[in-house]
Amino acid sequence: MKTKKTYERPLIKSLNSGLMNKFGKRTEWTPLTEIDGVKVVDLLNEYGSPLFVYSEKKIRENYQHAKRVFETRYPKVQFAWSYKTCYLNAVCDVYHQEGSWAEVVSRFEYEKALKNGVPGDKIIFNGPDKTDDDLMLAIKNNSPIHIDHLDELYRLHELASGLTKKPKVAIRVNMDTGIYPMWDRFGFNYENGQAWDAINKIITLNKLDLVGLHTHIGTFMLTPSAYAVAASKMADLAINIKKKYKKSISYIDMGGGFASKNTLKGSYYMGSDTVPDIEEYAEAITSTLINAGFDKDEMPYLYLETGRALVDDAGFLMGTVIANKRLSDGRRATILDFGVNVMFTSFWYDHKISPVEELGYHTEDTTLYGPMCMNIDVVRENISMPPLSPGNHVVAHFVGAYNVTQSMQFISLRPAIVMIDLHGKPHLIKTKETLEGIQRDELVPQHLKTFKL
Ligand SMILES: Cc1ncc(COP(=O)(O)O)c(C=O)c1O
Repeated sequence: MKTKKTYERPLIKSLNSGLMNKFGKRTEWTPLTEIDGVKVVDLLNEYGSPLFVYSEKKIRENYQHAKRVFETRYPKVQFAWSYKTCYLNAVCDVYHQEGSWAEVVSRFEYEKALKNGVPGDKIIFNGPDKTDDDLMLAIKNNSPIHIDHLDELYRLHELASGLTKKPKVAIRVNMDTGIYPMWDRFGFNYENGQAWDAINKIITLNKLDLVGLHTHIGTFMLTPSAYAVAASKMADLAINIKKKYKKSISYIDMGGGFASKNTLKGSYYMGSDTVPDIEEYAEAITSTLINAGFDKDEMPYLYLETGRALVDDAGFLMGTVIANKRLSDGRRATILDFGVNVMFTSFWYDHKISPVEELGYHTEDTTLYGPMCMNIDVVRENISMPPLSPGNHVVAHFVGAYNVTQSMQFISLRPAIVMIDLHGKPHLIKTKETLEGIQRDELVPQHLKTFKL
């Protein structure tokens, strides 16, 4: 039997000349109907809209690829999963199953890693805010503590005075890598001697065990050569510590910051066409360390805290079209049921958004808004999409990093999160928020409990 084709309404469009680039004009008409073999529409029917979906397959592939890339270039490599990038337990556990340690920046994250079963000595404790109690817990668990500032260093010295074992520490180093603005608010500066001051104090006072050096030069770094500069400055510190104090540093932690394939707002080209591959970052770091002059038997471990580059493309956010409208200048606008509340990264990326249904090849420049009653709730300022109708669905790509951890509970409930396993089976890994859950921690004083209107 012949099936009748879907009616496509006629569309009159003005032609703007001069807007093409050498790739032609990007349009998003190709539908994304499935993720890892599971129909997007089935997921939305089962778990509600909007919905975050993580692909376990993609997470593992990304990790295994990055590990291979570094391990084929350097003898001693250890990854530590950056919890702040996405601390959903199921996501963390995939990385831990693959062999990744944990990298945390707060007591909350530290306890999450412990509860996930990561041994204390495999939890790297970064961040500027560690109380005495946090530090004592980390010391007890033998975790490497990365010192951020002198006040923390002095507190650690005080705490260590009453102990028999020396706490394991590293210092965070910031530096000029040729990328500006410099990330100099964390750690001790290399160029002005702060880093050496901290190193000399630690080694001379002899109460702490300086086991490593740490840096994290920035995030979404598009210039791999900046990592070569950073690695050479880190190696310089380590080699001179050895010369001056006859002490070998056991690891150099190069932090994270490798870009994912997302497209930064204002970029002329798509991120997928221009972002460096992980091989380029690896080459810059490992060649520098290998050629730095370490004794062959005393090469430091290379620690990596890569976040977004390992998870961004493993996360999807799917949702439903609420309505269409015309703005005052005639532009088409489409309102979706997810916005910046759960897709915080729309503030700096032009996320790829795909329709889910087959809608035809005609596209029109459209602004995609979220459902928040606030003006800044813009998912894409301008995207060329087929005319979506209420009830149609869309999928946002590259949302695996920083969206779940930075999402806002503003005027509505945060969505459920699903992970599709290696056999194409979806698992609910976080339930949709409930009013009861949110109000559980609220208290109303007795005298406010009754009113008459
Ligand atoms: C100390 C530290 N390590 C690792 C990361 C992960 O960074 P990215 O997601 O850019 O790789 C961050 C994030 O800002 C960080 O602050």
